[in-house]
Amino acid sequence: MKILVTGGTGYIGSHTVVELQNNGFEVVIMDNLSNSYIEVVDNIAKITGIRPGFEKIDLTEKEKLDHFFNHHTDIVGVIHFAALKAVGESVDKPLDYYYNNILSLINILSCMKKYRISNIVFSSSCTVYGQPDELPVNEESPIKPAWSPYAHTKQIAEGIIDNTTNVEDIQGILLRYSNPIGAHESALIGELPIGIPNNLIPFLTQTAIGKRDILKVFGKDYKTPDGTAIRDYIHVVDLAKAHVVAIDRLLNKTNKKKVEMFNLGTGNGYSVLEVIQSFEKIRGVKLNYKFVNRRAGDIEQVWADTSYANEELGWKAEKDLDDMMLSAWNWEKELAQNS
Ligand code: WQD
Repeated sequence: MKILVTGGTGYIGSHTVVELQNNGFEVVIMDNLSNSYIEVVDNIAKITGIRPGFEKIDLTEKEKLDHFFNHHTDIVGVIHFAALKAVGESVDKPLDYYYNNILSLINILSCMKKYRISNIVFSSSCTVYGQPDELPVNEESPIKPAWSPYAHTKQIAEGIIDNTTNVEDIQGILLRYSNPIGAHESALIGELPIGIPNNLIPFLTQTAIGKRDILKVFGKDYKTPDGTAIRDYIHVVDLAKAHVVAIDRLLNKTNKKKVEMFNLGTGNGYSVLEVIQSFEKIRGVKLNYKFVNRRAGDIEQVWADTSYANEELGWKAEKDLDDMMLSAWNWEKELAQNS
């Protein structure tokens, strides 16, 4: 069965393509390459022995999207990753985020309606909860005001999917991620932002390998045990595997509602300092970092109660923080060798 993976040359998307192929799915990737490289397609093929289809399309261009679906009439589901996704950047560029993230989704859903594709797995985020009053968050936790335009686009997107499935022959699963980190064990794919990384882990490993001078820790005055912000970091491969379970669930119609949502995390919250200490432990070398002001758009702390996904999906994150940091470091060293 053929699955369209939008944003499939991106970080989570590429790892999900690998897991889909490992599970017998045929995959076609759609990506505008605004934050990823076409070489990722070659590296996926090296890992799985199967080259996924690829179309360079910007999902805000509806005519091109329509033309694609007109010529790919055998797609049975969509996993929609394509979006701008940097919390801090979204504060500086709100219009880019609303335009790209919302219009892309509207175009995808419109084409799914027109071409009778009934299944969508959507890349959502635990940032939809805002700053939770109680931790860990579960799927019933209140949706509080978003702290960034990025998070707000995810809240809006969830609402669009929910209301669309009420009246169209479309069913969906919303996967609310925590913070994906790490890389495939082959070190052939991993987090590879273009330019200066927004996210913690690539900036951390680039600092360690000497591409960056120093890691800035955004905030040391949060109301957390060590004053730095807390997130639930999850290995990107564990996250990718959850997408296979989710699309299978829709295709086999074992979903219990037209739209289901699941928190995907490890259930553990780690502070920025704890992440740094994990890295220093696995590498045996001190990291060069300093504390600076908080970053606009960041919430103080969030981690997920993943028991619903564990029980309902039969999925559970397997890798711990040290595993994640080691895979991220192996990936950074591989990049350095190939650069
Ligand atoms: C993590 C922590 C920063 C960079 C990510 C994804 C987003 C969404 C949620 C899935 C924060 C701190 C960072 C740096 C730092 N994913 N930090 N120095 O903002 O939680 O968002 O997870 O839906 O798409 O981007 O991740 O890695 O940017 O930040 O101190 O140079 O690390 O302040 O506390 P974030 P992040």
